[in-house]
Amino acid sequence: MTVSSAAEVLRLVAAGDRRAAADRAAGSPGALCAALAAYLAEGTDVGQVYDEAAAFQAFISNGTNPALYERTSAALRAVHDGVLPRSVLDIGCGDGRVVAASLAPSIARVDLVEPAAVLLDEAVALVGEYAEVGRHCSTVEAFLAADDRRWDFVQSTFAMHNLAPDDRRSVWAELSNRTATVAIAEFDVPAFADRSAAHCSYLAERYAVGVTEYVDHPEVVNGFLMPVLVGQVAPDAAPRYTYEQPIEQWAQELAAAGFTVAKEPILPYWWADAWLLVGRMPVST
Ligand SMILES: C[S@@+](CC[C@H](N)C(=O)[O-])C[C@H]1O[C@@H](n2cnc3c(N)ncnc32)[C@H](O)[C@@H]1O
Repeated sequence: MTVSSAAEVLRLVAAGDRRAAADRAAGSPGALCAALAAYLAEGTDVGQVYDEAAAFQAFISNGTNPALYERTSAALRAVHDGVLPRSVLDIGCGDGRVVAASLAPSIARVDLVEPAAVLLDEAVALVGEYAEVGRHCSTVEAFLAADDRRWDFVQSTFAMHNLAPDDRRSVWAELSNRTATVAIAEFDVPAFADRSAAHCSYLAERYAVGVTEYVDHPEVVNGFLMPVLVGQVAPDAAPRYTYEQPIEQWAQELAAAGFTVAKEPILPYWWADAWLLVGRMPVST
């Protein structure tokens, strides 16, 4: 029962007993427990996973991610083709591969907001082949507070779950005054009480699948998957990377800010199903 062993390891992490978690992982079978044992034995969490871009980029370049990114880019591109935006803001653009693949020929300027400088520089170079680019090495919260620009279209793929719920609600409210259309790609993760037994079981079950996709990429397992996994349950999680929720809740957040929301499935993914949400502000007469 490798998944239940991994769930028990995560419950020990959640209880703050990292040493017991490391011991339990080391004595348990399965690739996920082996990965947890190696990561927890190091004793400290790695720094910001997006600042050291290599592990994240190996993550998105392998496993099911190329298929996920291809579908996400195509779904976004279809929305661009309907809106034909001249100006776009992309929040948490990473290395820009989705942004570059989603742009319609109408595009003139793209503002890229990304706190990880190495990823942002790659995105600026890539997207710069298609449009004038604004480079903003910042969180979206700080960027919006310092800039009063408007955009035809605002998008974000798998980045808004990095923000704590109160912060992202403020972002939606601000964007409702700055654009007519938002599109976000996010995961449909069931609602759990943080660090509950059900939460740990879900994480163990899904990450057991995730690690099998990266047997040939140990740098992804130790440098990206494990910090993101442990960061979701460690009580002193610093840093924590993800605040997930059901897709209906994502839609409700956008609706609460005034957007009319449509949603479409992108791909069943090992972590959770991926969806595209498109929010439109009512046209004022
Ligand atoms: C899972 S990656 C997705 C990157 C890219 N959008 C893609 O689809 O490949 C999440 C990204 O969000 C960025 N991020 C984290 N916190 C952020 C914040 N507060 N504001 C803007 N971006 C943020 C990270 O640095 C990272 O590049």
